[in-house]
Amino acid sequence: MIEQVRGALDAALTRVVAAATLDELRAVDAVVLGKKGELARLKTILGSLPVEERKAFGLAINEAVGALQAASTERALELDSAEVSSRIAAERLDLTEVIARPTRGHAHLVTQAWERLEDVFIGLGFQVAEGPEVETDFYNFEALNMPRSHPARSGFDTLFTDYRQLEADSSDHTAADGHEPSVLLRTHTSPVQIRVMQSIEPPIYMVMPGRVFRRDTPDATHMPVFHQIEGLVIDRNITMAHLAGTIDSFTKAFFGGDFTSRLRPNYFPFTEPSAEFDIQRPDGTWIELGGCGMVHPNVLRACGLDPDEWSGFAFGFGIDRMARERHGIDDIRDMYSNDIRFIEQF
Ligand code: DAH
Repeated sequence: MIEQVRGALDAALTRVVAAATLDELRAVDAVVLGKKGELARLKTILGSLPVEERKAFGLAINEAVGALQAASTERALELDSAEVSSRIAAERLDLTEVIARPTRGHAHLVTQAWERLEDVFIGLGFQVAEGPEVETDFYNFEALNMPRSHPARSGFDTLFTDYRQLEADSSDHTAADGHEPSVLLRTHTSPVQIRVMQSIEPPIYMVMPGRVFRRDTPDATHMPVFHQIEGLVIDRNITMAHLAGTIDSFTKAFFGGDFTSRLRPNYFPFTEPSAEFDIQRPDGTWIELGGCGMVHPNVLRACGLDPDEWSGFAFGFGIDRMARERHGIDDIRDMYSNDIRFIEQF
């Protein structure tokens, strides 16, 4: 009889251990520990046994039921933790994938050129200054030797912020009340020269990068908003040779030792003499880069500097054009359309 109990227990234990899920275990429990189970059946014959055997047999059945319950509880714990971990595994989000993907961007092409220009000029001993984007007529024109009637003003296609511009005839920028508006978006970085000369004593070796504005329709080579970098040197006995030498050192430092530069006579109201400066690529072709010249005595005077004591040179050129040149971009508008397919190429 004891053998039968042990056999029933072994069979039941095998089924408990074999249960692969909690649901399966619950079904097995119902059978082996239930009323129709083998142990329950053996218990029913207890009453028909002789008293001497009954005690030991009863004990064996109780022990078997206890062992089976313990085994079932243990198996339930095992299955539970396995199910939790497989659920966790199934629901896991692999964040490393997101972190590892190289989605870091980079600075805008114009910003890159701007920062490189600053680096090169700092290397040549210049300091960096910036000025306001909204300027007055005085800084943008007047102090730069362009009085109100000066014809060079019309070449700048100025955007005025003054309300009177709304009533103005757009061809001459003169408002109905006869006054030209005097607050404007700077058309070049040259006004920062004036602010620098007003605020610090010479000697001055300064570059002034910034955003400038002109009333222009965007096309492949023009934007109404673009960027320039201005240079200004004021010291004693500064000559055109210093200007030419600085432009050439800059050209070689920025573009490479196989580039050269040249100056061509030109006209700017704020410099005398004035020049256009070009750079020559290693293949012999020339690119026009910007304007420059010796600071006009009227400009020095407007800033309270004595032209007999101080002299200097200035230059200014477009940063966007430098970025375009460096990366061979045909259409300047591509740099501002923020099309990721374009941007990701650089
Ligand atoms: N401001 C001029 C422009 O926007 C560029 C320029 C020419 C700047 C000659 C200068 C200069 O400082 O000396 O067209």
